[in-house]
Amino acid sequence: MLLLTFFAEFEIEVCVALVVIVLAYQIRKVVIPPSDFPKNIPTIPFYVLLFGPFFDWDQQEIFDLHYREKLEKHGAVKVYFAQRWNILVTRPEFVSQLFRDDLIFEKTGNHVKIPHSVFSEFTGDNMISAGYKNWKVYRKIITDSILFPNLSPLTDNTKKLLEKLQKLTNGGETIIKVSDLLQRYTMANIGDCVIGVNFRTMDDGENVHVYEQLRRVKQMIFTPLFMMFPFLDRLPIACRKRAREAVHSFKKGYADQILEERCSENNNRVGPRLAESFEVGEITEKQFQDNSIMALLAGHENPQLVLTSLLYILAKHHSVQNKVRIELEHYNKESKLPYLTSVIYETIRLYPPIGQLINRRANRKVILGEGIVIPPLTYVGYNNFGTQRDRGVWGADADEFRPERWGTNEEEIASFYALSKSRCTFPAFHGRRRACLGEKFAIYELKLAVAVIIRNFHLSLDPNWKDKITRAGPICPVQLSIVFNNISKRVING
Ligand code: HEM
Repeated sequence: MLLLTFFAEFEIEVCVALVVIVLAYQIRKVVIPPSDFPKNIPTIPFYVLLFGPFFDWDQQEIFDLHYREKLEKHGAVKVYFAQRWNILVTRPEFVSQLFRDDLIFEKTGNHVKIPHSVFSEFTGDNMISAGYKNWKVYRKIITDSILFPNLSPLTDNTKKLLEKLQKLTNGGETIIKVSDLLQRYTMANIGDCVIGVNFRTMDDGENVHVYEQLRRVKQMIFTPLFMMFPFLDRLPIACRKRAREAVHSFKKGYADQILEERCSENNNRVGPRLAESFEVGEITEKQFQDNSIMALLAGHENPQLVLTSLLYILAKHHSVQNKVRIELEHYNKESKLPYLTSVIYETIRLYPPIGQLINRRANRKVILGEGIVIPPLTYVGYNNFGTQRDRGVWGADADEFRPERWGTNEEEIASFYALSKSRCTFPAFHGRRRACLGEKFAIYELKLAVAVIIRNFHLSLDPNWKDKITRAGPICPVQLSIVFNNISKRVING
């Protein structure tokens, strides 16, 4: 009996010891980077990850306090994100190497990194995050539809945007929280011009099923706890089960809409092209859905975020706003709006919607720059916010909004823009083989929207709005609230 008690106690001690060892090992994995990670670049402490979701700090504050000095000095850091240690680069030479050697740093998105997560179920294997083999298949299907969109619906949607703003201001002045309206606008544009689906988001009282469902699904997916610790999605948690079901039903409903609205006029658009490729067996049904989702997300969220940042900049800097307005008043086809162009580039420089992306994995041991040795299977990412605000690259005034830095006429601006992209000092649209396909469409859409808004309204920041950008994820001023003052009768003819 005595002997049995002794063994029982001993067993408990062994169990406790084992649990402690496993726990200590797991904590060590989170707190300290792997031993084969490069020692010649600094580490961002893992707890910095918690500042955005759990404290009232925005990405700029977190960046200034914990990233900036290290990144400006070394150009690369070790950072804990999505349950693993990664290497994050900002120095243009490193970013350039990442983009150039895209078969070594092959794209390996969430479907490989965190395949069990609800988030990865949402975006799947798609044209943006796919590795080389699938990417080639997807690009063959969708490239032309994005590079050559149908631009005519843009005019109609922009007219509806103006009508909505005029209705809200009722000829006078009113405060508008802009994000919902801008999302409806960019979603209508991507649907009509690129995907070949009418989301009806700019029509009053119409069925906006996909839009409402998308908002609901995103609310369910993007909860900080599950984004930070995606392994939790493996557990049978009721709210995650609901989120997964919502994702499935959203993707199915959206794909059905693409199929229903297919017709001879839109068969060159992304949706019908993907549907056709699925029907002839080039891609699976899941790939059809994953890519349709990604066209929708990339195609409307990024322009919406930039448009929000643009309205913020214009409302904050009245002299810039007035200069844009004067340029618009003198617009003719030859004059081409160089100042507005430089305002857009400068806004994207300071507020790149994709601030940071870690979706590449070194498929062998590789040396970054002169001597940063990256072990095989390490995830490597780039941080646009850091590169585009690097004082070593952009000068001591890197944080200042100064559109003049891009040049003073169309040629100067175009050539500095091209140079900044090719040198990777401005990687907001990526570059090289995997460069953004929707850049031209997005810039055109942004110009049109800003032109119509600035010709008809004077903008100021709502004095009660708290000047902050998002705490994590895509970058833009958060819940931006703007005073719109209708000046259409005073300044323009329509
Ligand atoms: C201001 C707006 C936009 C910005 C800042 C932006 C930025 C980017 C960035 C940074 C990437 C690379 C992502 C990565 O590294 O994995 C990318 C890729 C891509 N973007 Fe955009 N984007 C914008 C608008 C659009 C629009 C309107 C579309 C239209 C559907 C689009 C379609 C794509 C596609 C298809 C790719 C993948 C290219 C490839 O890998 O071959 N983007 N974009």
